[in-house]
Amino acid sequence: MDEDPPWQPEPFKIKMIEKINLRPRERRKELIEKSGYNVFMLNSEDVFIDLLTDSGTSAMSDTQWAGMIETSQAYAGSPSYYSLEKAMKDIFGFKHFVPVHQGRAAENILFSTIVKEGSYVPNNMHFDTTEANVLRNKGNPVNLVVDEAYDTAKIAPFKGNMDVGKLEKFIREKTPAKIPLIMVTITNNSAGGQPVSMKNIRETSAVAKKYGVPFFIDACRFAENCYFIKQREEGYKNRSLKEIANEVFSYADGCTFSGKKEALTNIGGMLCTNDGELFRELKNLTITIEGFTTYGGLACRELEAMARGLYEVIDEEYQAYRHRQIEHFAALLRQGGVPIVEPPGGHAVFVDAKKFLSHIPAEQFPAQALTAQLYVESGVRAVEIGSSCFGKTDEKTGEFVPARMELMRLAIPRRTYTDNHLRYVAESLIRLYKKRQQIKGLRRVYASKLLPHFTAKFEQIG
Ligand code: F0G
Repeated sequence: MDEDPPWQPEPFKIKMIEKINLRPRERRKELIEKSGYNVFMLNSEDVFIDLLTDSGTSAMSDTQWAGMIETSQAYAGSPSYYSLEKAMKDIFGFKHFVPVHQGRAAENILFSTIVKEGSYVPNNMHFDTTEANVLRNKGNPVNLVVDEAYDTAKIAPFKGNMDVGKLEKFIREKTPAKIPLIMVTITNNSAGGQPVSMKNIRETSAVAKKYGVPFFIDACRFAENCYFIKQREEGYKNRSLKEIANEVFSYADGCTFSGKKEALTNIGGMLCTNDGELFRELKNLTITIEGFTTYGGLACRELEAMARGLYEVIDEEYQAYRHRQIEHFAALLRQGGVPIVEPPGGHAVFVDAKKFLSHIPAEQFPAQALTAQLYVESGVRAVEIGSSCFGKTDEKTGEFVPARMELMRLAIPRRTYTDNHLRYVAESLIRLYKKRQQIKGLRRVYASKLLPHFTAKFEQIG
């Protein structure tokens, strides 16, 4: 009699709406062909439901918008800088930080300062821009995620974990002097948005300390990761998300952060460190390439929106809703037989295109073909995370080496779409699954050397 309802819907209601357009099927076919079968080339007004990314696509709250108007703009020492500093200290707990315009700016500043030619940067798994920023500084990005990350059907609680054994072996082999930093990405975006456990973060940090190597966290989706820890790891059920975040960051020497994800803003980021000497260098480079250290390439109003968003993202009701929405969406796909990465991640559902399109070989970019066809089928834009994104051309032989996984990511923008939108996406994808044999492979006719998937062009085979 006295029980609460078993689940809660969205902990917010809609105050403003934006019209979206479903173009006719024949037009969608023309548009995808014109875009070289690359959905990055589509005009967003021609996209019905946009699941390209969860980055910079959050719906901001009335509180964030109010803060943007209330704060004042200043080159140096604006009140919003101090709001953000307070939130960073309270939730992340690092000694020093600079705001930056987005996550990759933090990567650029950090890596330009400490990554030297021929050095190695181990990560559980690099995201593409992180990898590109290591490469740009002539370092070698290395992925040392646990093997189960590559088994898309395997259900395990923390498939984003660093393989600590592999990491230690790697450090011994290459020597600590050649490793300027070790990174852990939470959650692991490149392999399904999978979380990293507190135990794994603690152990990775211990190995880094043992060899005197700085340990940084790519904290893009830290709060989703903290919620997974609360749900899945023993000892955290009764801890608040802020307490869990405090502990996560207590093991690290610093972090890079994209506010476009979990500060619930459309732009922004941070670079944090406890190392005062390193910070002096980072600060000077920030002033040179981003802007003065109290605005870091942003309008001050964006700092205020980030400061407020950081508290909204660690709100437990919000995280419960977010995770429930993604699980519900994943369940619809699973029921329809669509092969997805299990368990579903914190910011997206990933489809295993190798299984979905088993008749298309990796050289014909199955995940790219599926992404293009989903747009034709439904006006839905997803993104390829497969060989277009992570495939490599062997410099010596000129041979194409496909990525280990062929995934199509359906990223869920935060607080933007309803379950009904996602039901439409699930039904469209299930329909496509039933006629999957008709989907054709692609031939890549243009690819840039660094970050090819943004601008690549394809033609349909046959
Ligand atoms: N690290 C991770 C794990 C990311 O997912 C991203 C961006 C970045 C760093 C860079 O941050 O975009 O603010 O410069 N990921 C977006 C995505 C673009 O769609 O997954 P940024």
